[in-house]
Amino acid sequence: MMLLSIVRVFPHLVSRARFGFGGVPILIRRTRWEEPWVERELAKYVSGAIWMSMSVFFKRFRMQVELPRVLPERSPDTIVHWHPWHSKWCGLHALAKWESFRWEMDGNVFPCLADREGCRQLMRDIVAKLNFVPEATWLATTGEDPSGPTTLNPIGTIQGLRTGPVHGAIQNIGVAPKWRGKGIGRELIRRALIGFQETGCKTVSLEVTVHNLAAIRLYQSVGFINKETVFKYGFVPVQ
Ligand SMILES: CC(C)(COP(=O)(O)OP(=O)(O)OC[C@H]1O[C@@H](n2cnc3c(N)ncnc32)[C@H](O)[C@@H]1OP(=O)(O)O)[C@@H](O)C(=O)NCCC(=O)NCCS
Repeated sequence: MMLLSIVRVFPHLVSRARFGFGGVPILIRRTRWEEPWVERELAKYVSGAIWMSMSVFFKRFRMQVELPRVLPERSPDTIVHWHPWHSKWCGLHALAKWESFRWEMDGNVFPCLADREGCRQLMRDIVAKLNFVPEATWLATTGEDPSGPTTLNPIGTIQGLRTGPVHGAIQNIGVAPKWRGKGIGRELIRRALIGFQETGCKTVSLEVTVHNLAAIRLYQSVGFINKETVFKYGFVPVQ
């Protein structure tokens, strides 16, 4: 009750703090993000049974690669089925996304990535965009029957958007933890870059959090270079 009344009294100031009470998160919408002190103030009013998140700026690199870029096809060390975009795969993309990001720092940078329904909604939003690039969107699965979604186990996903007449952007690439280090991420990027190239793109960019060394090495290994440093406002949980 105390918390709710604070929110009512300071609706214009309350930043988007995430609180959990007994493990149930409550999302408080923010209208101004410039006042992270509001979150600290709110923390004074709540008991130790409540955890809250701290607002931070995540440093990120904006990386870019020029096309055409010929990358050798390397079969991953495991049997993987590669599916070009089809609307029937939307749910499996979302599942692969959630499996890939739920325990990762990017789940704090973009909370929807750590949430199963958030990933479903994100996938629906991406594919509904006018600048969605199906040719640069791939799903990796394991499973015996590549013809039907029911028996497939989604293990990797990548999606593409067009951000200019000759410019593409990779949205989220993710490989489920159990399947990492087998060349699946590199093959997803290779296929996405071919897709962008087929649709006339000359450059492709993406953003990556600077602490995500695995992803940065992967991007560098296929030719991406750092163009810019940007900051993204987000939250990290604290006890
Ligand atoms: C980043 C990610 C997609 C890499 O997928 P992957 O299938 O494990 O990558 P690959 O096996 O294809 O590795 C390709 C290259 O990436 C680099 N790499 C991958 N994992 C690495 C690690 N843990 N440490 C260092 N380099 C790594 C290596 O250069 C590797 O080449 P090599 O095998 O010849 O050494 C995967 O770790 C992931 O899904 N992470 C969580 C989600 C995420 O952060 N996505 C990126 C958002 S920007």
